[in-house]
Amino acid sequence: MKLKSSILALCMAISGFSALAAGQYVRISTDATDLILKVADDNRLYQSYLGPRLLHQDEIDALPQLGFTTYDGRKQPRGWEVYSGSGNEDYFEPAVAITHADGNASTYLYYVDSSSESVEGGTHTRIVLRDDKYPVEVVLHYVAYQRENVIKTWSEISHSEKKPVTLSAYASTMLYFNCPAYYLTEFSGDWATEVRMTSQQLQFGKKVIDTKLGSRASMHTPPFFEVGLGQPVSEHQGEVLMGTIGWTGNFRFTFEVDNGGYLRVIPAINPYASQYKLKPGEVFATPEFVFTISNCGTGQGSRNIHNWAMNYSLKDGHGSRLSLLNNWENTHFDFNQESLAGLMKEAKDLGVDMFLLDDGWFANKYPRKDDRAGLGDWDVTHSKLPGGIPALVDAAKEAGVMFGIWIEPEMVNPKSELFEKHPDWVIMLPNRETYYFRNQLVLDMSNPKVQDYVYGVVERIMAENPDVAFFKWDCNSPITNIYSPYLKDNQGQLYIDHVRGIYNVLRRVKENYPNLPMMLCSGGGARCDYEALKYFTEFWCSDNTDPVERIFIQWGFSQFFPAKAMCAHVTSWNRNTSVKFRTDVASTCKLGFDISLADLSADELEYCRQAVKNWKRLNPCILDGQQYRLVSPYESNHMAVNYVDATQSKAVLFAFDIHPRYAERLLPVRLQGLDPNKLYRIEEINLMPGGKPTLKSNGKVYSGDYLMKVGLDVFTTSATTSRVVELTAQ
Ligand code: GLA
Repeated sequence: MKLKSSILALCMAISGFSALAAGQYVRISTDATDLILKVADDNRLYQSYLGPRLLHQDEIDALPQLGFTTYDGRKQPRGWEVYSGSGNEDYFEPAVAITHADGNASTYLYYVDSSSESVEGGTHTRIVLRDDKYPVEVVLHYVAYQRENVIKTWSEISHSEKKPVTLSAYASTMLYFNCPAYYLTEFSGDWATEVRMTSQQLQFGKKVIDTKLGSRASMHTPPFFEVGLGQPVSEHQGEVLMGTIGWTGNFRFTFEVDNGGYLRVIPAINPYASQYKLKPGEVFATPEFVFTISNCGTGQGSRNIHNWAMNYSLKDGHGSRLSLLNNWENTHFDFNQESLAGLMKEAKDLGVDMFLLDDGWFANKYPRKDDRAGLGDWDVTHSKLPGGIPALVDAAKEAGVMFGIWIEPEMVNPKSELFEKHPDWVIMLPNRETYYFRNQLVLDMSNPKVQDYVYGVVERIMAENPDVAFFKWDCNSPITNIYSPYLKDNQGQLYIDHVRGIYNVLRRVKENYPNLPMMLCSGGGARCDYEALKYFTEFWCSDNTDPVERIFIQWGFSQFFPAKAMCAHVTSWNRNTSVKFRTDVASTCKLGFDISLADLSADELEYCRQAVKNWKRLNPCILDGQQYRLVSPYESNHMAVNYVDATQSKAVLFAFDIHPRYAERLLPVRLQGLDPNKLYRIEEINLMPGGKPTLKSNGKVYSGDYLMKVGLDVFTTSATTSRVVELTAQ
């Protein structure tokens, strides 16, 4: 950040603050992007530039000071205000809306000062803004990660009025663009249809993407988006903004094209039913919004975000991940100690690291034999599992695998002892008929006692069984019957305080069990944001494990998450496809199995064993390398992706034929990310036992240059076939 201090502002007379200068600017830069914020003559802060990094200092100095527009022949104070307040002359969607203690609903923020410091991987810039008529302060935060070309930004709102003020909008940030056209790619879906990608051109007015689900918040739309700047979003070329908000609750993205054809992008907590009474001295911190601007399409943009996540944000971003056998799809609620011990042996035989016990192991008065009872009572069902968790941990040790366990601690079935004892711990309307989602209700996480109880679920299991190696943390219901017995007449805070309560718990879990890997799950992929992923090593993308569907779902999530964070399991969904095809699709992410191994043929089982070994050997590429999405399932009848390790000495290419046409013209797949001057040996792997490679190039050696320009013939015209190709530098 640099401050140009040649012109001292005279407008202090108006604002009452000292030593500010019109023309000063704050520069927030990565190696590839510049965000320039300038103080205008009226002492307010405006976005002057956001785009590819500028090279010449004098031209940055001379960037126009926005903040005024000529209207009707007269100069009007209106521009791209960095954190525009309600009730001012902007007339379009504001970042912040405050009703002051005296009922006044306007906020004008003036630049006070700014500072910057180095933090891990980047530079943290703080900018203080203050209202001149009310003691309201906003601190804008930006952390620019130079190498990854990612900017993380959030804001803090506080005041010292005599009584609380009411916040009805509280954006994380506000970004402006000036392009000939804007094209939004959004992600939407439902249970088992997560992240379907669609695109549209943004025209005058607002497009809003939001959720009001509260806890299973991303069931219909996840907290991320892409905007093609000047042209539709594309994988390998073009300027694109990719953004995601770290908030495990209601969020709202507003895209507004104004009368001048400018686009403003406003990521925020959704203020729906959330008029927030901010007390004097309290700091309202917004969630972090993380974005990158790529000039080479979404492929590069995704890698920027993957690298940022693994380096600085995702829990254990550089650590290894446990492959696993889960029992949910195989047994559902129907298991006992012996059958589980048998599955643990199967897990060992398969070669995975861990056995993961899913739903159905707990509750006694109302045992959890289906999804209608027991949630909330986290004691093992003694009649079903007489030796409790210790016996299961022992059985896993004996089998030679680790043991992980499923919990859903924020929820309660009304048929449970917890509900009988603490009905006041539950979000539920006192004066209306209760309605249920999956027969359950949401615990009131705004209540500190409830937070203690939920934290205690993990603590009790860990105290009794310190060798439990993994948690799958589920959340199967949105907030229904919105009313918090704890917040009483402050219901406007429920959606927000509920999420903060979840973070309080997760923080304690992480502090006390820093090395405990955890999977974030929400009836499939309805929780997938970077705030939650500070506490979770990975997330469950979808209950839909049909490999054809998974190709699309994983393509969608990979836009924002590295393969390491995305759990993919081999199941018996879509038995029309081969076990090889299902395993190869899951091998592009964090591999697991959730299938009855006893139902596989000897060859299929042997295939899976080999695939697990190959996947583990190729972890430096798949989990820790760079991902290159090559052929989109949205644009072809195929999909291809390759991964390259850090030294460009190993790569792996996955190619899938989904539903090719008869006699379709097949194009070679050109790889990416290789060293053009290295020679790579081609080997087709993941073959069925006794199977021979069918790839013509198998065993040959090509330069990275050739592979990236000419490519390999890996596609076929047979539906649901797959090829996995290992490339080794010579
Ligand atoms: C959710 C999860 C599944 C499984 C079930 C158990 O639906 O997404 O993977 O854990 O809950 O009830």
